[in-house]
Amino acid sequence: MKRILIPATIAVTGMLAAVVYAGTDPALVTSIDAGPSTAAYLQFNEIFTGDWQQYGKLFTSLQANLFSRIFLLVVTLVPVIFFFHYLAIGPKKFDHSGPQIYYFNLFARIIHWLAAISFSLLVITGLLVILGKMLGGGAVIRNGRSVHILSAIIFTISAIPMFLMWLKDMLPALCDIKWLFIIGGYLSKKKTPVPAAKFNAGQKMWFWLATLGGFVMAYTGYFLWSFQGSVDNLRLMVIIHNFLGAALTALFLVHLYMSLFAIAGSLGSMISGYKPQDEIDILHSRYKY
Ligand code: HEM
Repeated sequence: MKRILIPATIAVTGMLAAVVYAGTDPALVTSIDAGPSTAAYLQFNEIFTGDWQQYGKLFTSLQANLFSRIFLLVVTLVPVIFFFHYLAIGPKKFDHSGPQIYYFNLFARIIHWLAAISFSLLVITGLLVILGKMLGGGAVIRNGRSVHILSAIIFTISAIPMFLMWLKDMLPALCDIKWLFIIGGYLSKKKTPVPAAKFNAGQKMWFWLATLGGFVMAYTGYFLWSFQGSVDNLRLMVIIHNFLGAALTALFLVHLYMSLFAIAGSLGSMISGYKPQDEIDILHSRYKY
């Protein structure tokens, strides 16, 4: 019964949404030829159900079964992996009372925290929406959707200066390949200098995914919010938004773990702007200060 109910609910919701959409654009309905012809039926069908063969089937099965499970897996598995990493390897500790180097200027810190707060809200409210049914629905989920949209606007605005201010330092370098081979030294307790300049290969991957991926999320999210375009286009936007959203949530959790737990005192550098010199000499050994 559940197997039929879920796709049927989605199909009806999709049709209702299409009706609402068609209603906002009367030209769509009036463009259909008058008279009970097969062509008119097909035209009508196309507007209300989209091209079922293209993304319809895929969308229905993903929406009914897979998306919420992928997100659940991400928010449980990633923290569990890091929990074991913390137990087995532990945080890298540096001398915070030794010489300090000015690393992040005030502008960079303000932009970072704007992006960080808005993105964190995006992740929390995105999870509320996708897991809404399991969480019992209600006003919290509905308000979560509004916060999601507002945070998306703030994030998109802050991601532009973030992209531009760090672009040069985030370009790929040869030492990134070496860094990837040793996974930045994070699987070892030893503190041997790792090949990286201002940012390492892991930080660069996060930067590119968070900014360019963030812009794709904003673009696809705009369609979901404004309900524009054909039904099939909306389905494609949902598919991209959810898959990319899951990948970004996973990397966001990685970033949180790295900055809050894996490198002791890392958070302080994004607050004061200063990093301990011995941390730079080990984790960013190619950085010239
Ligand atoms: C509440 C969430 C967040 C916290 C606590 C946090 C914390 C930090 C910290 C401590 C650093 C400095 C790392 C170091 O070099 O030692 C950092 C760097 C950075 N953050 Fe965040 N951040 C958060 C969210 C975000 C978000 C949402 C984005 C992007 C959308 C972001 C993008 C970056 C980038 C690109 C860097 C520089 C490269 C790197 O260290 O990965 N951060 N963050």
